[in-house]
Amino acid sequence: MLDNVDYCYPNGTKALKNISLNIHKGEFIAIMGQNGAGKTTLIRLLNGLLKPTKGDIYFENENINTKTVATLSKKIGIIFQNPTHQLFSNTVEDEILFSLKSLGLDKSEMKIKAEKVINQFNFVNYRNRSPLNLSGGEAKRLAIASIICRDPEVIIFDEPTLGQDEEGIKFFINLINQELDKGTTLIIVTHNIEFTIDFIPRTILMVNGKIVADGPTKDVLINEMLIDKSSLILPQIHQFKIELKKIGITIPDNVFHESELIEFLSNLLQNNSNKK
Ligand SMILES: Nc1ncnc2c1ncn2[C@@H]1O[C@H](COP(=O)(O)OP(=O)(O)O)[C@@H](O)[C@H]1O
Ligand SMILES: [Mg+2]
Repeated sequence: MLDNVDYCYPNGTKALKNISLNIHKGEFIAIMGQNGAGKTTLIRLLNGLLKPTKGDIYFENENINTKTVATLSKKIGIIFQNPTHQLFSNTVEDEILFSLKSLGLDKSEMKIKAEKVINQFNFVNYRNRSPLNLSGGEAKRLAIASIICRDPEVIIFDEPTLGQDEEGIKFFINLINQELDKGTTLIIVTHNIEFTIDFIPRTILMVNGKIVADGPTKDVLINEMLIDKSSLILPQIHQFKIELKKIGITIPDNVFHESELIEFLSNLLQNNSNKK
């Protein structure tokens, strides 16, 4: 929970203003907004990498000021936008083992967890490869694997679908479903509005360091004024609805997904041809 949080960088940039936010266990949330809105700053505060200039942050009813970054990072994992910043071991396997080290497991437990994640992420044939010799998508996958292997309670992704091909996105969707089944809280910073609409039930929209909307995704992302203010590109389906309206076909607000639009339009066509 965040209570009236401000964050100001040492150079004087006010990156967050008056942020209040409640996040429940097991929720799946998108954080959206234009570049510089404060999304990355917000997630850095959530796992204690930055301390609020004003206000308080609570995790499981305790002020996170009372916890070290090491303790918090066992429970809250962040996968940053640029994965190469996060990878520094000599091999894929070492990267995972290094990440597991701080959990205080014994050697055999560590080995079991590492094997599990190496299999899950298809790194069996890559285990001795240097992370520097992975493709962008693979490096991102390794960064995710090195966080997931620690079984965090909250996972925060910064732009996970950026630069991923279709297969990478499928893998990611599968992964988030597994984590949601486990009851993990997932927070995704993304510009991918179609992904958010299809998969993420709650959206927080940020403009210039402030939260301008927070609620069910379809309520937040249907608001043309807000979308405009945050320089997001309206989903194709909504652009299409606007065009249809211009030629006199009004699509109701509750027609939100592609399948619903197809159903609505085919009913409309059916009715019209019945009338003839
Ligand atoms: N290390 C930093 N020092 C000073 N200002 C920063 C730093 N990181 C980000 N900022 C500024 O803080 C604001 C929010 O940035 P950021 O949280 O990265 O936004 P977003 O992730 O939404 O693009 C921007 O004005 C950015 O220029
Ligand atoms: Mg960012």
